[in-house]
Amino acid sequence: MMGDGTAGTWHLRVGPQPANGVAHRQPLHATLADSLMSLPFNNVEADYFATATGGTESFVVNELKQSGAFDIKAAKGGVLFRASLRAAMDMCLHSRIAGRVLMRRGSGDAGNADQLYDAVRALHPEAWVAEDQLVACRVTGTNSELRTTHFSAMRMKDAIVDACRDTHGWRPSVDTKHPDFALHARIRGPRADFSIDMCGRPLNQRGYRAQSVEAPIKETLAAALLRFGGWAGNRPFVDPMCGSGTLVIEALEMAMGTPAGMRRSFSFERWPFAGQYLPTWREVRDVSEPADDPPPMPIFYASDRDGAAVDATRANLKRAGHEEKAVVSCAPCSRVTIPWGAFVAVNPPYGERMDPRQVLSAHRDLFERAKAAGALVTIISLEEVLRQTFRWRPLRTLEVRNGPLRCQIAVYDFGER
Ligand SMILES: C[S@@+](CC[C@H](N)C(=O)[O-])C[C@H]1O[C@@H](n2cnc3c(N)ncnc32)[C@H](O)[C@@H]1O
Repeated sequence: MMGDGTAGTWHLRVGPQPANGVAHRQPLHATLADSLMSLPFNNVEADYFATATGGTESFVVNELKQSGAFDIKAAKGGVLFRASLRAAMDMCLHSRIAGRVLMRRGSGDAGNADQLYDAVRALHPEAWVAEDQLVACRVTGTNSELRTTHFSAMRMKDAIVDACRDTHGWRPSVDTKHPDFALHARIRGPRADFSIDMCGRPLNQRGYRAQSVEAPIKETLAAALLRFGGWAGNRPFVDPMCGSGTLVIEALEMAMGTPAGMRRSFSFERWPFAGQYLPTWREVRDVSEPADDPPPMPIFYASDRDGAAVDATRANLKRAGHEEKAVVSCAPCSRVTIPWGAFVAVNPPYGERMDPRQVLSAHRDLFERAKAAGALVTIISLEEVLRQTFRWRPLRTLEVRNGPLRCQIAVYDFGER
């Protein structure tokens, strides 16, 4: 797919560089022109990869279809696709479930540290970084010479810094947490595939989390739970263990059609040549402005037995601009009122520190109430916890990764009985 080297497309094959390094010291305008020529402006298509938590790839596939991507192929840990830059920017703005969107920039020899260095220089990273911007390199995979991802990332960073110094006369600083420009490499045997992160902060960072609790669910996983549960915004919504309120905010915004990335910025807005496509980006954003006549909304309830969690939910709802839209209260789930036919989304505490008897009794209380209300319950927990604590059979289940934990999302429909 990649690497036909044709000028005017973004495909770029990265090969070994001349040993004397002369090719590295091209004048700025030639380097920039070269790099810009190969970028996917004006609806030229390019290859991308949207990362996704294991188990959630199929939801990202559906999001990509809505963003106008094509040649969509689910892979391990994400989804490959082709798209115009416009569609890729649309995906950054709207995806609730992808972790990042990466623009693929070709592959190169990476059998050893020097080859990796040369391959990064051949990408002309100096065209992607402005003075005072921060850079980062992220690596997956090793080979017999590049034995740690940390070492490879350092070598790639050297290449970026040297390229900027040789071309511009200044050196960018490194910030692995909040870079303006992040280059990813996937090392496989003697080759590496390179991609540039379009997002900056990962997409789960929507910009509404002002306060947190212990073990908050990632926004992207919360959205996947809601999609798997079939949340359509047309029933009362209840989160009886709301923690910091992620599920209720995601549910609200899905019902309202609010773009997930509405409050945040993206790396691609800061690339030095962003002026080339900012008008298109503005159009993408404008089309996504909330409608004047929002759809009728159901009632949203969020509660937790912990007062600090309730405060966090209120603070986050306020930051998201939704403080009037949900009823938040402090109560154990055994006392929560569940309206008839509600959609109940639950992220109970799980993990080693939990007393199984406590978990069992909280789950049973909640499920008895949900059953009496003919509710649809979508819950994420450890598979063995769900198996042990419930005598009901789930309608459907999905295995997902939550950090290091293998979890299950299970849907129970008591309205059908
Ligand atoms: C894993 S956290 C939820 C995280 C939340 N989804 C978020 O995004 O921050 C579990 C929450 O369940 C609450 N909880 C545990 N047992 C409960 C019970 N019996 N009734 C109500 N809340 C309970 C805890 O106080 C905690 O805030």
